[in-house]
Amino acid sequence: YVTEIIIIILSYLLGSIPFALIIGKLGYRVDVREHGSGNLGTTNTFRVLGKKAGILVLLGDMGKGLVAALLPLLFGSEMSLLLAGIPSVIGHSYPIFAKFKGGKSVATSGGVLLAAFPWFFFVVVGTFIVTLLISRMVSLSSMAAAVVGLVTATAYSLVTEDWLPLIVIVPLALFIIIKHRTNWQRIRAGKEPKVPLFQNKHK
Ligand code: G3P
Repeated sequence: YVTEIIIIILSYLLGSIPFALIIGKLGYRVDVREHGSGNLGTTNTFRVLGKKAGILVLLGDMGKGLVAALLPLLFGSEMSLLLAGIPSVIGHSYPIFAKFKGGKSVATSGGVLLAAFPWFFFVVVGTFIVTLLISRMVSLSSMAAAVVGLVTATAYSLVTEDWLPLIVIVPLALFIIIKHRTNWQRIRAGKEPKVPLFQNKHK
């Protein structure tokens, strides 16, 4: 299992690359951990540094999950792409390169799903977009996507008797929901910031 162990380690290291921190520091001399929600992710980068930086972080954070999940193909391993992607999600939230304090793993999980389960990716992204258009809260949209992912994975596994989605995606969805617990408290208190969709806000 040497190849699989190498894949797991590489996946974790890839996930650990803190794009929000790197792009913020190199491009703007700003540490996004000190602003907004303090989260090292796409949403907080959009909030603190604007559209261009946000899109770059989204691409980086999704891209690392995607590449991590594709590692078995690169190494000629039979390992499931879904399993290979999971360490990158853990790396994103607990990055070895940023004192183990990272993000909430939404974009990185999206990248893993895109590689491992494309139709599933479109179901959860669809949920995310619809919720975002209605609520204008990224955190609520992430949680809604996680809940729909959890239910879809369970239904899929029950129907197909392929248990891997249930075993992997249900814990992943729960992990994402738990990571949003402070957002949930803010939503309930009516204090969660909303994104200014359809507004031309110049930064
Ligand atoms: O991508 C994470 C998002 O769902 C919430 O981020 O910064 O609003 O806590 P943030």
